[in-house]
Amino acid sequence: MTSTYVPRQRAWSVSDLLAGVTSADVTCSEQDLSAAEPRLWIDLAAEWDARLLEAHIVDANRGFSAEFHAFLKVWAEDEEQHTEGLLRLYSLVTGEQEGSVLSRLRARVGDFRSVEPLLEGEFEVLVLLAYDEAMSTAGYGEDIPFYRSLGPASFGRLLRELKNDEAMHYRNAVELLVLAHSHRVEDVPSVVERVVQFDEAQEEYRATFVLDHATDQFDGAKMERVGESVVRTIQRRMRRQLDR
Ligand SMILES: [Fe+2]
Ligand SMILES: [Fe+2]
Repeated sequence: MTSTYVPRQRAWSVSDLLAGVTSADVTCSEQDLSAAEPRLWIDLAAEWDARLLEAHIVDANRGFSAEFHAFLKVWAEDEEQHTEGLLRLYSLVTGEQEGSVLSRLRARVGDFRSVEPLLEGEFEVLVLLAYDEAMSTAGYGEDIPFYRSLGPASFGRLLRELKNDEAMHYRNAVELLVLAHSHRVEDVPSVVERVVQFDEAQEEYRATFVLDHATDQFDGAKMERVGESVVRTIQRRMRRQLDR
């Protein structure tokens, strides 16, 4: 690798952001709550599942580079903070104690059998995460008005922090792809294509963090659009790197 890789991390804190917010600030009606709860749970659980994916990748001892592990460490820290924020929010909105929500999260078990073919090497994992983080960036961007509608203005701000962090994860993944894997520039379209096809076909999300888009929020056209933009971005950056 020609230059050193340092993943970037945004600085913000859940406790500062949600300081002083209480359940009394939540304006969501009982009726709206029953519709809101599943959406809040899906987002919270997916953030939690990042640690299941991290453990799955690390435990398999895949021989990935030190740079990859630097990327993963920063990513995992951020996803932990996202979990903390969405857990607090979920508890404030639903009235369920944080400890009780946490024990439901702790009971989750990831089933990685179906996504394992997408995790075969460092290049493939980075492409998968780049696509997934690009999808999360778009998804959270669209979710801001919904979260804001629950009452406290800081809920909207929390979602904006999450969205901006996911965009940073995308950038960090692309950066490492460019620095360490540019020789695979011609493989990018087929690898992204396989991920998008998997995302479109997956009927049930199995606590794997990635490809949790089998919900009403996303359709195949959107996945393909995001996939195409990810391919363009990565290939453009890789070609520039190779021309140096
Ligand atoms: Fe996240
Ligand atoms: Fe992320």
